[in-house]
Amino acid sequence: MCGIVGYAGRRPGKPIILDGLRRLEYRGYDSAGIVLVEDDGLESVRAVGNLDALFATCGQSTSEATVGLGHTRWATHGRPSDENAHPHDDCTGRVSIVLNGIVENYKELRAQLTERGHTLTSETDAEVVAHLIEERIGGGLTTAVRETVGLLDGHYALCAVSADEPEIVVGTRDQAPLIVGVGDDEMFFASAIPAFMAHTRTVIFLEDGDVVTLRAEGAEFCDVGGAPLVREETVVQWDDDAAEKGGYETFMLKEIHEQPAALRDTLAGRLLEDGTVDLSEVGIGDEMLRRVRRVFIVACGTSYNAGLIVSYAIEQLARVPVQIDVASEFRYREPVFGPDTLVIGITQSGETADTLAAMKLAREAGSPVLALCNVMGSQATRDADYVLFTRAGLEIGVAATKTHTSQVAALLLLALRLAWARGAQSEAELKRLGHELRAVPELVQQLLERDTAVNAIAQRYHDERFFLYLGRGMGFAVCLEGALKLKEISYIPTEAYAAGEMKHGPIALLDKESPVVVVADDSPIFPKLVSNIEEVRARGADVIAVATDGNEVIGELSRDVLWVPRCDHHLAPILTVVPLQLLAYHIATIKGLNVDQPRNLAKTVTVE
Ligand code: G6P
Repeated sequence: MCGIVGYAGRRPGKPIILDGLRRLEYRGYDSAGIVLVEDDGLESVRAVGNLDALFATCGQSTSEATVGLGHTRWATHGRPSDENAHPHDDCTGRVSIVLNGIVENYKELRAQLTERGHTLTSETDAEVVAHLIEERIGGGLTTAVRETVGLLDGHYALCAVSADEPEIVVGTRDQAPLIVGVGDDEMFFASAIPAFMAHTRTVIFLEDGDVVTLRAEGAEFCDVGGAPLVREETVVQWDDDAAEKGGYETFMLKEIHEQPAALRDTLAGRLLEDGTVDLSEVGIGDEMLRRVRRVFIVACGTSYNAGLIVSYAIEQLARVPVQIDVASEFRYREPVFGPDTLVIGITQSGETADTLAAMKLAREAGSPVLALCNVMGSQATRDADYVLFTRAGLEIGVAATKTHTSQVAALLLLALRLAWARGAQSEAELKRLGHELRAVPELVQQLLERDTAVNAIAQRYHDERFFLYLGRGMGFAVCLEGALKLKEISYIPTEAYAAGEMKHGPIALLDKESPVVVVADDSPIFPKLVSNIEEVRARGADVIAVATDGNEVIGELSRDVLWVPRCDHHLAPILTVVPLQLLAYHIATIKGLNVDQPRNLAKTVTVE
């Protein structure tokens, strides 16, 4: 949520900063801005809308400035407008800042600044920071930032430049992401690695409260009191191609097609040839897994849906009770848990504020916390006792796809290991499931080759005004994800319901104009679902089923069928969600919508 880029080097900074912003645009795209430290002072440009608007405003002019900042915004305080776009300047125009996050006490600070004669021109919480730095700039920019940090409540990452110290950029963070990229005679700040991946893979992860001064030659770290700190460099493995569309029209389509590889990588070295699961890298031993009396899953959005899907498998296979809640509810409901509850925080970004807060609450209650995460070095991986990484690679499309199926696969590994450790299933049965899971990436590959059939269905239904999704068990959880995908990128209202519950309300919505998507893979509950489909048909609604190859019953009951290859029903959600991702994708594309940047959304939600 909001992307920050900072540069201090020897090359002209403008194209480097703009390119970095382009790579962070998935974090927010309401407005954007850039500030360059020129010989005669600071030069800022801001524009409402996505980065194209900023490029149109400032793209042509050249600049030799070698220090500057950029920002792409997702509005929290203040609507998207030129005034509210970052960077924000102080009264003198000699200091400029960009900020990601929230300054909670900004109203109070703003009132105090106004009383002291400052003129604030925006509605944002961020602008106060520029003026607070201005008041303290006499001691130099680094000292001014340190002293300002002491006045701020909230969670934020910010960077500042000053016309009086044209060679430096100063940054700091508190519970919001900011990392340093170490280049060859050039240094970077960024909210996420992709921003500088074209220039360096050497990164330094900041701790909360670190104040960092970058100049071309290197970075100096100190704490808020000014005491020097030493921080380690890490070399990251991500491929720079991940930030490019690689021949696909959109990142979302590319990422849908990357699912076989993401699944293979996530299973590699963990799901062994004999079908057993080795999660020793996570550090949770079988002894510990045997002690677990309950699992509590917390997550948001698509990650929540992955958790819900596998909550069924964990209970069914490992015979451990599982509770699951969206993190924003969990953190305020006074949940009951203790040392024998394993809390799993699922977050692809590792930055989602509510999920981080829920994990913190669990740790404070003495529960062991496992993070399931896709981003190395992210906050969730630092806050958790144990980390299980999905290895989906960088995901840029705002609607999560490959990280979702990778989460489901990784959680299934955990379910299998939990079941093994507890002796809840026979070894032969668990190995059988392990072997089936090993085949799933290839089955997803085959499924992607059936895309033409999905597109044909999208062509038929793209004008509908409402879609109901029905399923039972894990199929219901898949429906939640399918319905979420369609509503977030096509803006068509959707509802996902447990099929057995349909008679208690949603059936009233059905008519000839309301297609019903039914996830009806071959599971033990399939016969019950057949009755629900009959109820839908009796109301004249069209059924679009997602069903297992060769299921003749479904073929007769449904107007359209999206066929998926056969596999064990515990693993089927990795398959059944794929045609639903594609259906949403095609419907949105037919409608001419920007699937990579759906309105009002952001990929990482770093505010509560
Ligand atoms: C946002 C994104 C979703 C994502 C959710 C949770 O809402 O748009 O795609 O599922 O955040 O993100 P996380 O990084 O915690 O998985």
